[in-house]
Amino acid sequence: MDMQRIPAQDGTYNLQNYENMRKTFSWEDMKKHFSWNDTGKVNMAYEAVDRHAENPDKKDKAALLYSSPDREEKVTFNELSKQSNQFANVLKKYDVEKGDRIFMFMPRSPEFYAAFFGILKTGAIAGPLFEAFMEQAVRDRLEDSEASMLVTTPDLLERVPQDDLPDLKKIVLVGENNETSDKYIDYQQEMKEASTDFNIEWVDLEDGMLIHYTSGSTGKPKGVYHVHNAMIQHYATAEWVLDLQEDDVYWCTADPGWVTGTSYGIFAPWLYGVTNVVRGGRFSPDNWYGTIDKYNVSVWYTAPTALRKLVSAGEDAVKKHELSSLRHVMSVGEPLNPEVITWGLQAFDLRIHDTWWMTETGAQLIVNLPSQEIRPGSMGKPIPGVEASVVDNEGNEVPPNQMGNLAIKAPWPAMMRKIWKRPEKYESYFINGWYVSGDSAYMDEDGYFWFQGRLDDVINTSGERVGPFEVESKLIEHPAVAESGVIGKPDPERGEIVKAFITLNDGYEDSEELLEEVRQFVKTGLSAHAAPRELEIKDAIPKTRSGKIMRRLLKSWELGLPTGDTSTLEE
Ligand code: WTA
Repeated sequence: MDMQRIPAQDGTYNLQNYENMRKTFSWEDMKKHFSWNDTGKVNMAYEAVDRHAENPDKKDKAALLYSSPDREEKVTFNELSKQSNQFANVLKKYDVEKGDRIFMFMPRSPEFYAAFFGILKTGAIAGPLFEAFMEQAVRDRLEDSEASMLVTTPDLLERVPQDDLPDLKKIVLVGENNETSDKYIDYQQEMKEASTDFNIEWVDLEDGMLIHYTSGSTGKPKGVYHVHNAMIQHYATAEWVLDLQEDDVYWCTADPGWVTGTSYGIFAPWLYGVTNVVRGGRFSPDNWYGTIDKYNVSVWYTAPTALRKLVSAGEDAVKKHELSSLRHVMSVGEPLNPEVITWGLQAFDLRIHDTWWMTETGAQLIVNLPSQEIRPGSMGKPIPGVEASVVDNEGNEVPPNQMGNLAIKAPWPAMMRKIWKRPEKYESYFINGWYVSGDSAYMDEDGYFWFQGRLDDVINTSGERVGPFEVESKLIEHPAVAESGVIGKPDPERGEIVKAFITLNDGYEDSEELLEEVRQFVKTGLSAHAAPRELEIKDAIPKTRSGKIMRRLLKSWELGLPTGDTSTLEE
């Protein structure tokens, strides 16, 4: 087969006539799939859960197939509807109002999903946090969002700096606990007493639904604000890109602390009413293949980092499991290496479909549709209803094959509507009517987009975005560290790793123990994925005369590349 062009696979794939649809499609056409189109009553939780629970043919269907090393559970749409009603009643009992920010900091579990939809049912805004966050990361997010309530587990409570969070009024604890203060709400206890009926709070399509914090190259993480209207695009892409069919068993491996884990780990499959597999616990090739085998997963959405690990685990790992249930595989988060696509053809006899989007975009934008030819190394083409291009710094489109800023014509249904409390930050994304992504890319003459890299200093390690500023700030909190500069260093398995350069304060000596101590300091204070895998001591950190760390220069030094313009470098 010509590896440059892999033809579409046979099967009942949607959007056979993609090029034609691009010309005629309007987002208005999608509205007929939602009950609010007839009733005027809007809420994501209704469309994704209650609507199926009210349908006699669907109510007893498995919505969730959950497994973790020590637990296994099936939850039907009807059960999920009732459990989320109960949680919504608990929230109302403690005076939660529409628009309040209710954050969640816990591992994936059936309780997570009940609580998540309970929050949406009250009209409050959910803020899921990745369970591996440490104190600083948790503090930054709860402080900025002014969250009034947090749903967490007793184990994670020690990472919540409550004394520094005056807005945080109540904490719901999921799991056995000995807390006695009336600040704490016992999940099990309250759920037992709560009614399974709830009058859902109807909202406007433009009302807030979700905040995901994400990293930029400067400043603290920013709260990306999404509204209920995003469901239009979640539904459309569930159909076109995920290619979901009624009997599919779907598995998205992402944690709901990241946007893939909500848009495609929660909304898309459940808006479409399919069975959704959730696996807790750590990654290993055996338990991942085992999950596909055990549940007969047919549609699988994962990430290049994981796929690369599966590639290194080799053929034997594949052969140990029955994977013939798989029909459709997708990837997101980092460039999908052509080698991985080749491996996918060998291992599963399937094409792996790359998809490109961001926390800010709320849903997939540039994709390899099942019905289209794949060009390995390319992210594919924009979905119908979306215009993508490559623009220069003034927002003018550049010709095909020329590199520039990957940009999307604003708006689209799932686009973020705010950066929480930072309107100027929000505005800074848009130039000349284009949303400018921060990625560089080019478009070939046939309209396929090719990712080239990030234009800013944001690091993408194993598909997770790390802001260098956050890591630098944490590093200099360590008594030994005077200054720091943090870059992403290319890595074959993780895409990039976090590499930090530091200078030491007087009285500290360079030693392996000290470096390890500093690394642990970031790991336990911020989060494991942000901790530098490499740490190097320097005599000075290069800075501009205005005091900005010249990360680009650090990177050139590290990679042995030409250093370019250094005229702004301080003496
Ligand atoms: C990168 C994840 C190459 C990109 C949904 C983007 C990709 C950032 C791809 C967003 C892809 C995402 N190929 N790079 N298919 N998909 N990226 O906000 O740099 O965690 O800007 O959203 O990941 O990461 P985020």
